[in-house]
Amino acid sequence: MKKKILIAGAGGFIGGHLANYFNDSNNCELICADIKPLDFWFQIFDQSKNYSFDLKDYNNCLKATEGVDYVFNMACNMGGMGFIENNKADCMISVLINANLLRASIQNKIKKYLFSSSACVYNSQKQKKPFVTGLKETDAYPADPEDGYGWEKLFSERMCRHFNEDYGLDVRVVRYHNVYGPLGTYDGGREKAPAALCRKIIKAKISNQDQIDVWGDGEQTRSFMYIDDCIDGTLKVFENNFTDIFNIGSEEQVSINQMINIIENISDYKVKKNYQLDKPKGVRGRSSDNSFIRKKISWDTKITLKQGLEKTYKWIYKQMTSGTNINRFSKS
Ligand code: GDD
Repeated sequence: MKKKILIAGAGGFIGGHLANYFNDSNNCELICADIKPLDFWFQIFDQSKNYSFDLKDYNNCLKATEGVDYVFNMACNMGGMGFIENNKADCMISVLINANLLRASIQNKIKKYLFSSSACVYNSQKQKKPFVTGLKETDAYPADPEDGYGWEKLFSERMCRHFNEDYGLDVRVVRYHNVYGPLGTYDGGREKAPAALCRKIIKAKISNQDQIDVWGDGEQTRSFMYIDDCIDGTLKVFENNFTDIFNIGSEEQVSINQMINIIENISDYKVKKNYQLDKPKGVRGRSSDNSFIRKKISWDTKITLKQGLEKTYKWIYKQMTSGTNINRFSKS
């Protein structure tokens, strides 16, 4: 019999790509849920059952998990630094999604549950310098995560652990490191640095501007993970038997200035940088250490930043120049 899979947050960026994977694989029954009206989902599939409702509500969680085998909880109110630094209360309220989905999963006897956590859970003291040692899973404690969003993720991870210990729910937890790629947000305030900087360079190029705004001094570092690697890693962790928490991220650490340089080369257009030191900056340096996931389940990223940015730039360029600014695709 076909497995029944719920993707919570299927209207978002990562949830949409995960739904696409299961839709293509054709050997499961797919249930998609998201708070956004269907017209605003990044990807939507006619064969799946699509619920547009709020999973902070327990009754909606019960309805979404009815008869379901596997739950992927990708739902939360989030965005890049510009969003999470200015919306801490809204980010923390997402705790209700995970709490009620976990409760409903017990009630409806779900077989396996995956929670999408974030590199924002890591102790900020380990991220004070621009080039940092990659963060290991154990670096989340002692706890000093990103205020608001990071605390919510750390608390929700912990809740998963205790639902596993106390109720026997089979849980998986992954910590994503700055995921980017096509069919994601590239403007409007929630966009992360890769999409934002592609957009700014494209805009400069097509309107003949010689300068772009960059938040901070550009020397802060991150590692960015292309969406295909993210989906691949998520599925590997889900399929394996370990309930440990795993990093799903890239070890390719770059400064924002270095990433701008890569985008300039893709675009074949050079820009001057107007550094805005008062804009949200987040931690000074962050990267993933994948030694644990490599050892336990033999997973690692395959796509370089340059390769991923080429695809992302191309997609954003098409959105910005096609005249329709389509930010949503549907597939039957
Ligand atoms: N968003 C954005 N837009 N960031 C910019 C820009 C810009 O135009 N210019 C420079 N930056 C800098 C930010 O100041 C920050 O220092 C760095 O680029 C990365 O910013 P983001 O990509 O917005 O976020 P982040 O890496 O700090 O955190 C993101 O990834 C986490 C997982 O690793 C967020 O999306 C978190 O929600 C997520 O958990």
